[in-house]
Amino acid sequence: MMRILIFLFVASLVGLLKGCQLPSDWRPQTEACRAELVETIVFAKVLALYKDSYSVYNFLPWQYNSDLFYSAEIELLCDQAWGSMLEVPAGSRVNVTGLGYFHCYSYTVMENNSYYFFLRMDENYNLLPHGVNFQDPIFPDTPENHRMFASLFQFSNCSAEINPQIYTPDWEIQEDHRLLCGSVQRALMEEEERVKSLSQKVRMLEKANGHLREKVKNLKRSLRQAEIENKEALQAKCLPNKKKVNNKDTRLDNHKKVQERTPKKTTGNRLD
Ligand SMILES: *[C@@H]1O[C@H](CO)[C@@H](O)[C@H](O)[C@H]1NC(C)=O
Ligand SMILES: *[C@@H]1O[C@H](CO)[C@@H](O)[C@H](O)[C@H]1NC(C)=O
Ligand SMILES: *[C@@H]1O[C@H](CO)[C@@H](O)[C@H](O)[C@H]1NC(C)=O
Repeated sequence: MMRILIFLFVASLVGLLKGCQLPSDWRPQTEACRAELVETIVFAKVLALYKDSYSVYNFLPWQYNSDLFYSAEIELLCDQAWGSMLEVPAGSRVNVTGLGYFHCYSYTVMENNSYYFFLRMDENYNLLPHGVNFQDPIFPDTPENHRMFASLFQFSNCSAEINPQIYTPDWEIQEDHRLLCGSVQRALMEEEERVKSLSQKVRMLEKANGHLREKVKNLKRSLRQAEIENKEALQAKCLPNKKKVNNKDTRLDNHKKVQERTPKKTTGNRLD
């Protein structure tokens, strides 16, 4: 049975991490931290399983008529009162719906076994598994889980068959743990906020940098253009362009012409 559970857990985890898109800032949370955030925790025995022909939580339309979805009738093994959403004594029976094989995860239980359930209530007062942080909300009845939840939560007046170890919580450890968990959680959130605002700044700077680079490119281009024009102008000045020269310096030209004429005349004479 343990092997099946482990397999299911691993399968659901693989599905969770591979098949389904989690937010990019998703981090796994410890059981203790999720236990802080969950609406309620019960320790209960599964009495019966019922098929759900239709579940609101079945979001795969082609599976409406499959037998993959079910609810479990559970019997509470401890009182739920102090600080709990459910104010019901040990021995009460309730139905937990929203179990089964879903696209991204599996919430499964077996008849006659006991589990710790993380539960929440929907707007129609249905009790559902509460997968805090997209993680597993159902924990099998093992000594490790007894220890973990007994040290974290107050389970009172549990039925005789339960190991008395689970209702001797160490209050001081519990309080310390709650404080620690809360502050760790807050620190994590603050860190994530800081990283978010930093990366936003980086993006803005990168944008500004891009603008600057564009500006520099434009400047370079106009500089190059100016150089080319300059060179052309220089070449224009240096190369003899009679029209220009004639038009521009008429006085100088006259003088030149005089100079020119004289040798021309002579040469002309010589040639003639
Ligand atoms: C749980 O659901 C089943 C099937 O709908 C019903 O027969 C049973 O009475 C319910 N139990 C409780 C405690 O509501
Ligand atoms: C659960 O226990 C009841 C009563 O002891 C028994 O009739 C039933 O077959 C058990 N179910 C399973 C799945 O073992
Ligand atoms: C504990 O449970 C028993 C039987 O279910 C009940 O008679 C008793 O009043 C409960 N004690 C408290 C403190 O709730």
